[in-house]
Amino acid sequence: MNIHIDTALLQKYDLPVPRYTSYPTVPYWSITPSGEQWISHLKDALSTSESSWSMYMHIPYCETLCTFCGCNTIITKNHDLENMYVELILKEWELYKKAVPQFKEKPLKQLHLGGGTPTFLSPASLEKLLAPILDEVVKDENFEASIEVDPRRTSVEQLKVLKKLGFNRVSMGVQDFSPEVQRLINRIQPYDITRDLTLAAREMGYASVNYDLIYGLAKQTTESFTETIQKTIELRPDRIALYSFALVPWIKPAQRLFKDEDLPVAEEKRKLYELARAQLTAAGYVEIGMDHFALPDENLSLSLKNKTLHRNFMGYTDHRTDVLLGLGVSAISESPYSFHQNEKVSAMYEAALNKNILPTHRGHVLSEEDRIRRQQILNLMTQYEVGFTDEDQKKSAENYLSEMVKDQLVAVESNKLKVTEKGKPFLRNACVFFDEHLKRKQPADKLFSKSI
Ligand SMILES: C[S@@+](CC[C@H](N)C(=O)[O-])C[C@H]1O[C@@H](n2cnc3c(N)ncnc32)[C@H](O)[C@@H]1O
Ligand code: SF4
Repeated sequence: MNIHIDTALLQKYDLPVPRYTSYPTVPYWSITPSGEQWISHLKDALSTSESSWSMYMHIPYCETLCTFCGCNTIITKNHDLENMYVELILKEWELYKKAVPQFKEKPLKQLHLGGGTPTFLSPASLEKLLAPILDEVVKDENFEASIEVDPRRTSVEQLKVLKKLGFNRVSMGVQDFSPEVQRLINRIQPYDITRDLTLAAREMGYASVNYDLIYGLAKQTTESFTETIQKTIELRPDRIALYSFALVPWIKPAQRLFKDEDLPVAEEKRKLYELARAQLTAAGYVEIGMDHFALPDENLSLSLKNKTLHRNFMGYTDHRTDVLLGLGVSAISESPYSFHQNEKVSAMYEAALNKNILPTHRGHVLSEEDRIRRQQILNLMTQYEVGFTDEDQKKSAENYLSEMVKDQLVAVESNKLKVTEKGKPFLRNACVFFDEHLKRKQPADKLFSKSI
């Protein structure tokens, strides 16, 4: 396949920029809501007749460490922790339920279990955690429940229990099918394991299977990655998250277990994405936002078409709710007025809950300006275009983005900023224009991975 990569453009724009899963981005959160404020924001957000919410649960445990991983994890083989952790999440839920009665009245649209590895929990622990919560909430008529699973550590028994509890989506960590790449990232996952779990999930009636893949990993070549994508297409997951490898060794030192020279550099890395995109679109997948693909009749594709695509801490989603409630260590919650993150250290999360207080680590109360910018960045990230607030903002964009306009990566048309086809790889660079926090104060330390 012949793919043209504009090297000069990559060199010019491959800069450290945020992934914009929130605005303001986490390093710029400055005003943590008090407990009372946070609860009143949740109540306000769920006060209208149409309001709805979603829930995220973070299960941090993994049995082994993949050396590329940037997630909030605790590496352990000690399964005695399961019971204690399930009880802590249930305790946290008790606190919210008492403080915000709307959680039992308003429809829950989506439940997502992420990690770490949620299938670290045994079938019995999953049931103990989820059954009481799902029994007492009001589920939306289109309720969806999804879970991130590591195929190396997921049994048919676990999938069966989850199905019984109402789960209809499974997201599998695959990353790459090449044995050499798998060896370097400390994640040996034979193809058959992924294939068998996919077939089992389908047979059980799961409506959607997602694969997480990563481009830019150590020793990935165009040949090896083309094969990975070919194998993926053969198994035909409904969705694919094709993540750019985020190299953040200053946060995760384990990422340094491979050498710099093993990593594909900017243009080689972009080529991996472009090749994958060409293969996936030729196989009928629709490209969604920066890094997702879905079959055309999948909800994510439909929401792109209907302009209802949303983006939150979990990436692109077809659900937008008034509140996202995050439970578990380090989990992040969102309301229209604020963000809230739980304690990131287990002992502190546990200590707060043992005192019956919310385990707040940090957060951010949004100003009026933050709320406007948050919506503008969201529009750009999900629809590749956004309207300006006024003539002044338009002029300022023409000035700030003049190089990107000249390079035909973005265009200013009437009162809108549009990202062109050529500009799609640089979507995050265009968002920076709306990021007042970043523009006011450049980070002192390395904070963000590069845009490509
Ligand atoms: C919580 S894990 C998925 C579930 C399970 N732990 C597993 O690995 O199968 C979330 C996903 O984040 C992605 N991810 C983790 N670290 C990353 C990094 N440094 N750069 C890009 N993607 C990353 C991987 O694709 C991974 O599947
Ligand atoms: S990629 Fe998944 S299994 Fe591997 S360390 Fe990260 S969270 Fe755990």
